[in-house]
Amino acid sequence: MKVIALYNIKGGVGKTAAAVNLAYLAAAEGRRTLLCDLDPQAAATFYLRVRAGKRHGAKRLIRGGKALDRQIRESDFPALDLLPAKLGFRNLDLKLDARKRSRKRLGESLRTLADAYDLVVIDAPPNITLLSENIIAAADLLLCPVIPTTLSLRTWEQLDRFLRKEKLPRDGLRAFFSMAERRKKLHSATIHETLDSDPRFFSSVIPMSAAVERMGPERAPLFVYDRRSAAARAFQALWTEIRHQLY
Ligand SMILES: Nc1ncnc2c1ncn2[C@@H]1O[C@H](COP(=O)(O)OP(=O)(O)O)[C@@H](O)[C@H]1O
Ligand SMILES: [Mg+2]
Repeated sequence: MKVIALYNIKGGVGKTAAAVNLAYLAAAEGRRTLLCDLDPQAAATFYLRVRAGKRHGAKRLIRGGKALDRQIRESDFPALDLLPAKLGFRNLDLKLDARKRSRKRLGESLRTLADAYDLVVIDAPPNITLLSENIIAAADLLLCPVIPTTLSLRTWEQLDRFLRKEKLPRDGLRAFFSMAERRKKLHSATIHETLDSDPRFFSSVIPMSAAVERMGPERAPLFVYDRRSAAARAFQALWTEIRHQLY
């Protein structure tokens, strides 16, 4: 079982859009995939039209095993399951803190599902907390969507420094450009320079696209309603790169 986490300190950079579409693509290839929505705002859960069980909460999530397994829901798509998010997940940090080895707790909990899934895709909330450190430690691939602007690139560098300082694993740290507007000179220049200089960036670039925005009203992965769009092709290319990296 491999774990990918979509992570960025910033919100609104395309984490959830990527988590849902990449998980969909992995499952469409027949990989048993669990999309794990750890953001209490529950956007991925909304897109997949799933509702969390009443007793679902932070405690069960970090306990692992049966307690965790019972919270998982099927999606409308073969091979794709979802661990829905709940507002209760805002307490995850406190729950983790109460435990020893609290940085590894989430990873250990997820590993109890290793027989059931080939891939876990985590949609992470935008901040740096103990939960984020757990997500970083659990991920084989820490995948950071970056908007091609100076400030977003700065955040990416801050993340790298943070991992270094906290002695968190950096081997799996990767990025890709998200919400790119090629007509903007600054976007194009930033993409060009970064892809030339930073080998941790995947070369697939997700364009700014009305088709991606429609995931909201459609409540579905992009491939369900517009598989021919440029953005859909870009997610497919990104998934191919990720797959080569992971397997
Ligand atoms: N490639 C894209 N093109 C256009 N809109 C996008 C794109 N990716 C995401 N969005 C939109 O931007 C908003 C934030 O995206 P989201 O994936 O939720 O970001 P995050 O999870 O990082 O907060 C959403 O309304 C989403 O529909
Ligand atoms: Mg999100």
